[in-house]
Amino acid sequence: MLIDGHGREVNYLRISVTERCNFRCQYCMPEKPFSWVPKENLLTFEELFLFVKVAIDGGVNKIRLTGGEPLLREDLDKFIAMINDYKPGLDLALTTNAFLLPEAAQRLKDAGLKRLNISLDSLKADVAAKIAGKNVLAQVFKGIDKALEVGLKVKINMVPLKGINDDEILAIMDYCRERNMKIRFIEYMENAHADQALKGMHGREILDKVKEKYTIKALGREGASPSFNYLIEETGYEFGLIDPHKHDFCENCNRIRLTAEGNLIPCLYFDEAMSIAESVKKGDIQGAADVLALVLKDKPKENRWTEEELEGKEVSKRAFYETGG
Ligand code: 5AD
Ligand code: SF4
Repeated sequence: MLIDGHGREVNYLRISVTERCNFRCQYCMPEKPFSWVPKENLLTFEELFLFVKVAIDGGVNKIRLTGGEPLLREDLDKFIAMINDYKPGLDLALTTNAFLLPEAAQRLKDAGLKRLNISLDSLKADVAAKIAGKNVLAQVFKGIDKALEVGLKVKINMVPLKGINDDEILAIMDYCRERNMKIRFIEYMENAHADQALKGMHGREILDKVKEKYTIKALGREGASPSFNYLIEETGYEFGLIDPHKHDFCENCNRIRLTAEGNLIPCLYFDEAMSIAESVKKGDIQGAADVLALVLKDKPKENRWTEEELEGKEVSKRAFYETGG
């Protein structure tokens, strides 16, 4: 079992396989970064897999692949198959913008992927294009349909932004309910790479929108998930709300993050990281395990997306496309 310096069990690894993305979402990567990590600095899937084995042997039983856009990385299905063959019962998931899913969904499913989280911020083509920086919606819809068709479980992420898609909360919820997908509304997390003019909707404002039409009942969190669940009494549909500004989920945090370059990151908010690149390039299993132990020991207690901190204008410098959110 992997235990961090605050006594929390860590059993969840998120791996960002590339920072590159084919979208330019305003809340994440509105501009193409000045430079990408050079290809030669990326760990190969074999190198990443060495660390994956260390993590699984230590007690990790849930792995999520993220990006950037993970489907931009060639042969991702082979990496999925490597992990799945090593530990077939593992909870293996992927976060994607769905653009490349129409072609990839079947291969991912065949490789052993179980679940997908897909970003969907609008049902209107022009609004989706404004948020993603290009005309994406028709292809995203196709990707979602394909994923459902091949039998992947799908959850939808929406980031409600004031004056942009804040009028679509109920419509997106209906779209998800009709397809038997759970939706999770995520409060916009301020960060130095996002469009600084953005204003996110607060969790309570999101709930107020839902309450305009429905009666909701608070259900609570599912284990260590940052998502707080609610039930719509009229329809029996359950949705989630992720509100990092409260950061009360930090006390149950069970996760660490690995970037495509091999930086092991204990907390999404902070810049701190330690590299496993040297160890895995040498095939040094003990070295990788030692770095993991150090990162766990120093994992921060909680994030700083509190309202007081934001008023003091402290904004996380971490890019979401590097860590995979
Ligand atoms: N705030 C909130 N959520 C974000 N995501 C990316 N950047 C941010 C941000 N600044 C989430 C989106 C997307 C997923 C990949 O990461 O929900 O669906
Ligand atoms: Fe865990 Fe850090 Fe995220 Fe809080 S902000 S939930 S401590 S990773």
